[in-house]
Amino acid sequence: MRKLFVIGIGAGDPDQVTVQAIKAMRQVDVFFVIGKGAEKQELVDVRTAILAEHVPQPHRLVEIADPPRDRTVPGSGADAAYRGVVEDWHERRAEILEQAFAETDGVGGILVWGDPSLYDSTLRIVERVLERERIHFDYQVIPGITSVQALAAAHRMVLHEIGEPVHITTGRRLREEGLAAGQSSLVMLDGDTSFTEVPGDDLYIWWGAYLGMPDEVIVEGPLRVVEQRIVRRRAALRERKGWIMDIYLLRRAK
Ligand SMILES: C[S@@+](CC[C@H](N)C(=O)[O-])C[C@H]1O[C@@H](n2cnc3c(N)ncnc32)[C@H](O)[C@@H]1O
Repeated sequence: MRKLFVIGIGAGDPDQVTVQAIKAMRQVDVFFVIGKGAEKQELVDVRTAILAEHVPQPHRLVEIADPPRDRTVPGSGADAAYRGVVEDWHERRAEILEQAFAETDGVGGILVWGDPSLYDSTLRIVERVLERERIHFDYQVIPGITSVQALAAAHRMVLHEIGEPVHITTGRRLREEGLAAGQSSLVMLDGDTSFTEVPGDDLYIWWGAYLGMPDEVIVEGPLRVVEQRIVRRRAALRERKGWIMDIYLLRRAK
């Protein structure tokens, strides 16, 4: 049976690629690059450098164009209309991956930023391809260092208080749901500096952008003291580079 590897490659530092990921990459004949048409060149360069360094065998790169997604429907994962739009988009991506896989031979590989388990649709799409039952293959997930771990390491911190949980969410959800007392929330996918909209003087933030990359920046402190510094820094970095990826932990004192 054909095989597909879904390989986490870490969140930006090529040295985060694990030995297990290298061993998997070395078995791959064809790498599928899904939906990265508009991706920032620097992110493409990280992947290219990883392949150049670790994959000596001849291999093919097949780019899979992203089908357009309806971004006119607002909402979040809690909202049926929004979920419908995302599911429809996943189905169309599944059709395209299925076709690309069917048209090639050998072991397949998909490199996933960070780890495939967090805010990434690759595994859902691969499952959809299998459910369609037009092609059959076995697939294996190779874990990667997530941006969550990269943030924790950069700040040399434990993500939660002793014996307490940590909650992972998006900027949109943070704005909608706020932050409960004693809660530690890790916020990803926040293009709107949503932390500025969380009320209270008892908040602390650990923020990081471009983690593991040459432009890595981190800031920490009481939220009300450092928030405008982060907002200004974020805007300036974004302006200079044309894009930004950032993540933060927000915690309310007990
Ligand atoms: C589509 S999600 C993918 C997450 C990825 N699967 C992971 O494990 O980190 C993209 C979000 O991850 C976070 N992110 C990924 N890489 C990052 C990095 N190097 N520095 C800061 N944030 C990062 C940001 O919150 C960004 O908006």
